[in-house]
Amino acid sequence: MKIRKIIDKHTHEIEFLKIAQLEKKLINNISNNDILIFDRNIAEIGLIKKLLKRFPKRSIVIKGHEKIKNIHNYSSIIEKIIKLGVQRKTIIYSFGGGTLGDLSGFLASTILRGVEHVMIPTSLLAMVDSSIGGKTGINSKFGKNLIGTFYLPKKVFICSDFLKSLPKREIACGYAEIIKYSLINSKQLHKLLIKKSKGDINKIIKLSINSKLKYVSDFREKLKSKNSRAILNFGHTIGHAIENSNFYKGNLKHGEAISLGMIVELKISSLLNYYPKRVDDLIEILKKYNLPVNYNKYVNKKTIPSLIKKITFDKKVINEDVNIALVGKNGGFIKKISIRDLKSTLNQIK
Ligand SMILES: NC(=O)c1ccc[n+]([C@@H]2O[C@H](COP(=O)([O-])OP(=O)(O)OC[C@H]3O[C@@H](n4cnc5c(N)ncnc54)[C@H](O)[C@@H]3O)[C@@H](O)[C@H]2O)c1
Ligand SMILES: [Zn+2]
Repeated sequence: MKIRKIIDKHTHEIEFLKIAQLEKKLINNISNNDILIFDRNIAEIGLIKKLLKRFPKRSIVIKGHEKIKNIHNYSSIIEKIIKLGVQRKTIIYSFGGGTLGDLSGFLASTILRGVEHVMIPTSLLAMVDSSIGGKTGINSKFGKNLIGTFYLPKKVFICSDFLKSLPKREIACGYAEIIKYSLINSKQLHKLLIKKSKGDINKIIKLSINSKLKYVSDFREKLKSKNSRAILNFGHTIGHAIENSNFYKGNLKHGEAISLGMIVELKISSLLNYYPKRVDDLIEILKKYNLPVNYNKYVNKKTIPSLIKKITFDKKVINEDVNIALVGKNGGFIKKISIRDLKSTLNQIK
């Protein structure tokens, strides 16, 4: 009950703005007690320049990258913020992609046992995924996001004007998660994605957020629920295994690995007789949004043993069973499957 309320409140606090409206709002609201954290790659955007000029002593600029999510960085930034001076009423404003957002959220949730966090996601992935749902965190040397908190930002301001400077490859990575939502629960989103003309990006972002919000009320990921947060992991069991495998030495980005993971997991859904449609339709959509589809290169007779090893390690497998998100006639669901069956199904994939 309480959790529902928190999520409802969160839902109302997501606001879509044009950059001029955002500027007005921020200039009127940011005070000299607040802290601003910016991704260096957006420092040349007019609004950011103005904010940096206006709050030079309260601003921290970091180059967004997976590497910034570490305990040493967290420690040095938190000491810097404390040195600058913080009070209970201080608000942390963060402007950047998912890495900067995850780190800033973790900082906000731990400074003085929690100060308010206002997020301004600037990558497509951050707009549709990481800024929604209140997971914050940094990486341990043993794995991704192992240190973190559940901490909802007070406000999320979505301004798609930031996407103008986002590299094409990063846009594609955002689309991987959007395509995931369209498969697990949004026919409306699916229709927009298969249209020939380029869809309205704000509408696509809104539908994606609504899709994620259906699951994040299951705040602590209880697997039994029909709306389990784990359904959001569709494409991620195989995707993460590809991303983390030792045999893989390239520089595949998260969204690209998820693109391949979704094809493989939809094929598993199909082989287990849950998915009645053509997997090729998904491949066409992924291609349209500049995502890789060459799953055979990563999932084949040679690589399957090491992928399975990764999955058992990642998912902390109990009694040889693993919970995997699949897609059926009515969208996403969770299926318990033995490692043996998963392996033999993977071996049947063509
Ligand atoms: N908290 C969650 O629920 C959640 C969910 C999904 C992903 N994540 C996390 O999100 C992270 C990935 O996020 P990401 O893909 O945004 O990565 P990122 O933060 O590394 O950003 C990608 C790149 O785009 C640049 N960038 C961002 N906005 C830009 C803009 N407007 N113009 C030009 N360049 C810009 C960044 O500097 C970076 O080089 C991962 O660490 C992942 O674990 C968290
Ligand atoms: Zn993802």
